Amino acid sequence: MTKAPRGIGLGFRVGMAERFLEEAPEIVGWVEVHPENYIGRGGRYRDYLKRAMERWPVVTHGLSTCLGDTDPSDAEYLAQLRSFLGDVGTPWHSEHLCFGSVGGAALHDLLPLPFTEEAATLAARRLDEVRSAVDVELAFENVSYYAPQPTEMGDESGLEEATFCAEVLERTDAKILLDVNNVYVNSQNFGFDPRAFIDRIPPERVIQMHVAGHFVRDDGLRIDTHGSSVCEDVYDLLDYTLRHVGPVPVLLERDNDIPPLEELIAEVERLDAIYQRATAEAPRAAVAP
Ligand SMILES: [Fe+2]
Repeated sequence: MTKAPRGIGLGFRVGMAERFLEEAPEIVGWVEVHPENYIGRGGRYRDYLKRAMERWPVVTHGLSTCLGDTDPSDAEYLAQLRSFLGDVGTPWHSEHLCFGSVGGAALHDLLPLPFTEEAATLAARRLDEVRSAVDVELAFENVSYYAPQPTEMGDESGLEEATFCAEVLERTDAKILLDVNNVYVNSQNFGFDPRAFIDRIPPERVIQMHVAGHFVRDDGLRIDTHGSSVCEDVYDLLDYTLRHVGPVPVLLERDNDIPPLEELIAEVERLDAIYQRATAEAPRAAVAP
């Protein structure tokens, strides 16, 4: 039976797995794994995953099935993914609302879609296709981006990012994995109100959240690195978001410069305190996992 993820989760990375599994901190409610790290792999990777599954609910988050791609889907990979998700028993799977290949060439990056009605329609179609291929609830994640959209250059023909996400949700019954750090990074780089973004997302469609740390360049540009601790403004925005959506599971992502476990756990504890406080008075019920 699938265990429901609750509260604060931690991105499960092989680099910290040994000590994390040994100590199995009580405060961590669930873990998230990238299927790409395990599909076609055995040995210690599978052993770590098995041990994690014995201890926590495990949720999957993909890096390679970009939901805005217009190239034909990779049916063979989707079949492998479906089998992996079934083995893990994940309650849902998420991928990014972006594109990552053109003309059959993989770009190895998560590139933003144009925020247009046409792109929303294409992405919704791809979401439905991937969802039926993997046979589990599917969510898309809002990404960070660095090239301005037409609306950010004064051209009113496109959509704002939050409206674009809402348009995709309107066209499919998929859910959204709301990355609060990505909302904040984009809002600072492109000058919009991050709380107004959150307000535009229907709370009942949010199935999971992400928080992470980012890097601020000397010229002020913020880069989504997952390589430092969560900043104060993102903690505040998480508090605001939880009050909007209710008790939706929140994941701390840390992929670079991974600190000692104590530091990660201190961040999880702080997130948990925010979570408990904000969801005690949540105005709206969250989506049931
Ligand atoms: Fe994320």
